[in-house]
Amino acid sequence: MSTDTDPERIIGEFYSEFPYPWHAERLTAPDDPGLYPALLAQELGDFTHRRIPRDARVWVPGCGVNQALIVALRFPDAQVVGSDVSADSLELCRTAARQVGADNLTLREEGISDTAHRDAFDYVVCTGVIHHHPDPGLLLGRLAAALRPAGVLELMVYNAHHRREITSFQEALRLLGCAGDLAAAKRLAGALNRPSALTRQLREDLGEPEEQFADTWLNPCERNFTVHTLDRLAAAAGLALEAPCATPLAAGLGLDDWCPPFADGQLARRAEALDDVDRWRLTQALTVDRSPLLWFYLRRRDNPWPLLGERDRDELFLDSVVAPVTARERVWLRGRSGGYRPLDRTLPLLPGPAARTDLHEAADGRRTVRELTASWPEPPSGDALRRLRLGLTVPAAPYLRAATAG
Ligand SMILES: C[S@@+](CC[C@H](N)C(=O)[O-])C[C@H]1O[C@@H](n2cnc3c(N)ncnc32)[C@H](O)[C@@H]1O
Repeated sequence: MSTDTDPERIIGEFYSEFPYPWHAERLTAPDDPGLYPALLAQELGDFTHRRIPRDARVWVPGCGVNQALIVALRFPDAQVVGSDVSADSLELCRTAARQVGADNLTLREEGISDTAHRDAFDYVVCTGVIHHHPDPGLLLGRLAAALRPAGVLELMVYNAHHRREITSFQEALRLLGCAGDLAAAKRLAGALNRPSALTRQLREDLGEPEEQFADTWLNPCERNFTVHTLDRLAAAAGLALEAPCATPLAAGLGLDDWCPPFADGQLARRAEALDDVDRWRLTQALTVDRSPLLWFYLRRRDNPWPLLGERDRDELFLDSVVAPVTARERVWLRGRSGGYRPLDRTLPLLPGPAARTDLHEAADGRRTVRELTASWPEPPSGDALRRLRLGLTVPAAPYLRAATAG
């Protein structure tokens, strides 16, 4: 039962005052319902596309304003449940879902700690949520219990190296008796008169939309992680880190590259010999404030699929026959009046200039990536191979699809 100190009630009220994030400017849905299950399987190293069922059961706890709808549109044959403690965020999501006609989405007002799902979901997406609870391990235990044995959890938690100034400022606001007070936070940000990383970062963020500023600087509760502490939290919940998740947000911030940040051959070989978790720890230790977002896929320890390493996934990619994605996207744009309106045509999914378009253009559904790249002056290997795979074959870069399965 809720009491005055119930952390889920407090966070629910906070996110009802500042629903997060603001509405997406555009929503999209592929015209091929199998596309995103296949791309998600590919990111996990399954180029046969058997790991994620098209009619998956999906849960998006702490879905906020957009996320459950974005997932429901990407997985149109799935049954998607979105849940949140903020009634206002859910209402905004419900209205948008009605406007785009997403009928595979159910929304529930509930805290994760109140859920009791068992072996229920193939895919759980929980980003930016469990770190807002004083006991994130309790919530992670609920998510782990909800996963089917072969299921996958997409999880993002705060990276401690990104949050030093932010948690300091939150503490200062608490000491001044102004926790959660947006006007006081802005006044304080403007009044600080000694230059520091804190003042610089705060002033930059004053130009952000209010919800963004509040989400960052005013949060009533946050816990931060390193790869090591997240790995331990996962283990305590019966989970293991499986793979980093590529996301447009991380790419846009330049905080997405888990390859160790040095080129020395001898040391690079040592780094490559580490197991994945230790190599990610190494990268975080050496990139500190520029280390990647802690956005990972996790799996139950009893998952029947073999646990692949990053190197295994790279090799499987090299040996897969690939073809350009032919699916097109339906698009809705958010108008001035606030509603979503469909575009009158579908759009192709084409890689931007940052991707290796030469591989995309050469992919013919007959040859493997190894064959397609054999004649390149430097056939991809190591970190370059990993970046090639992640730049073309995953949900965040939906451009190449293995041709070995439908
Ligand atoms: C930073 S927002 C992230 C929203 C969404 N996951 C995304 O990435 O766009 C955090 C959301 O989680 C919700 N939330 C926080 N703690 C929760 C909990 N224990 N149970 C359910 N929802 C929670 C908040 O109300 C808020 O909508």
